Amino acid sequence: MPKIKKNKKLTSVKQNRIDLIKSVKGMPDILPKDESWWKWIIQTGQLVSELHDFHFIETPILEPAALFESAVGTSTDIIEKEMYAFKTKGGDRVALRPEGTAPVVRSYIEHHLGYFASPLKVFYYGPMFRYDRPQAGRERQFHQFGFEILSDNDPIYDGETILVVLDFLKSLKFKNLSIKINTIGCKVCRSNYKEKIKSYYQSVKAKLCRDCERRLEKNPLRILDCKNENCISLRSNAPIFLDYLCQNCNNHFKTVLELIEDNNVPYEPDPYLVRGLDYYNRTVFEIFSSDFKWALAGGGRYDYLSEMLGGRSIPGVGVALGIERLIEALKLQQITPHLKSKPSLFFAAVGDQAKKSSLRLINELRLNGIVVVEALGKKSLRAQMKIADRFKMPLALIFGQKEVFEKTVIMRDMGTGAQENIVLSKLVEEVKKRIK
Ligand code: HAM
Repeated sequence: MPKIKKNKKLTSVKQNRIDLIKSVKGMPDILPKDESWWKWIIQTGQLVSELHDFHFIETPILEPAALFESAVGTSTDIIEKEMYAFKTKGGDRVALRPEGTAPVVRSYIEHHLGYFASPLKVFYYGPMFRYDRPQAGRERQFHQFGFEILSDNDPIYDGETILVVLDFLKSLKFKNLSIKINTIGCKVCRSNYKEKIKSYYQSVKAKLCRDCERRLEKNPLRILDCKNENCISLRSNAPIFLDYLCQNCNNHFKTVLELIEDNNVPYEPDPYLVRGLDYYNRTVFEIFSSDFKWALAGGGRYDYLSEMLGGRSIPGVGVALGIERLIEALKLQQITPHLKSKPSLFFAAVGDQAKKSSLRLINELRLNGIVVVEALGKKSLRAQMKIADRFKMPLALIFGQKEVFEKTVIMRDMGTGAQENIVLSKLVEEVKKRIK
């Protein structure tokens, strides 16, 4: 039998077509089936922001790469391994934002936002980008909802930050929330502690993982939260920060803990929590729920961040929640979105004249706050009503040639099948009487 040669050109065209209809790895679409989750979370976040007096801010997705390098730190995983940075056609080095705090501080300095309020309390939400190994709980494009309080170093604001994020999570009906909290001191006491940590890990260097061997020179504190089993076992003998805090940092941390105790917030001091971004000082914390393995939220104080960007001293504290993780954890805990839905009905029209007039009627209903679902592209009444059934619509309006002529519409209760005629001049009024 003659061998059939594979047409290479055809195979690569086919492969190209397959690639064209696939989203980039680790950057999933958010689909209409998950609409209620996203709406619920964003609406809850906005409501909680308003209650706690946070104001909306939105910064661009693209920023100068140097902003994150200076703020997050060149020796952190986020900058070293995960940042999407590239040169534009004009030669500028930019990056897809891996996080939202540095851009907010940049915006504060650029627009003198201290004139708007002091402290300035802002919230934001949107996509962030990190080139990590995609897995459940870790996407390359994910979304954060964040809160930042700028220009005050009073521990009261560390407390407020923790309370706003807890209020958010409790409003979403999360159960068994726990906070891991630590302090990583200030410039003065941290350098002292860093030396202690460095000399301890120097003595056990041979047992460290490859990443931590590198961290030992560049960022020794990060060894404390390495997930490698060897490194975890080594840290039980490592010096802890609380023993090296200066008096001011000690007082600050003590007050933060007192404030959260006053508000009945259960917390767990975690001497190994250091967080993966260089801009933090003093309070750092992460929030977990039940058995969900990933942190739902992480935050802390960043009093030197503005100076790291070349600005004057603007202390700050904040937190960000990962929306995808919230949804995953809520689903695991079998919590469903609690959305207040608007009253809705189905509108069907048969015949050209009825179809033509129906858009005006539909619009009138919508302008009166009624959600109208339709399938006017389908010709037959049967096909349209099938859609009404599929979406479990409680009420349908049916508009045909006869109704156009009589200036009426048929109203059908989809549960009982009962029908009545309504005059068009009273349509909105009659519909409102029947739907909740
Ligand atoms: P972060 O801990 O890097 O902090 O991120 C905050 C939250 O974003 C995490 O707790 C997690 O829920 C979510 N998250 C992070 N990376 C991923 C990922 N690859 N996939 C899915 N979700 C993820 C920050 O970004 C700081 N800017 C938070 C902050 C605000 N600190 C002060 N103000």
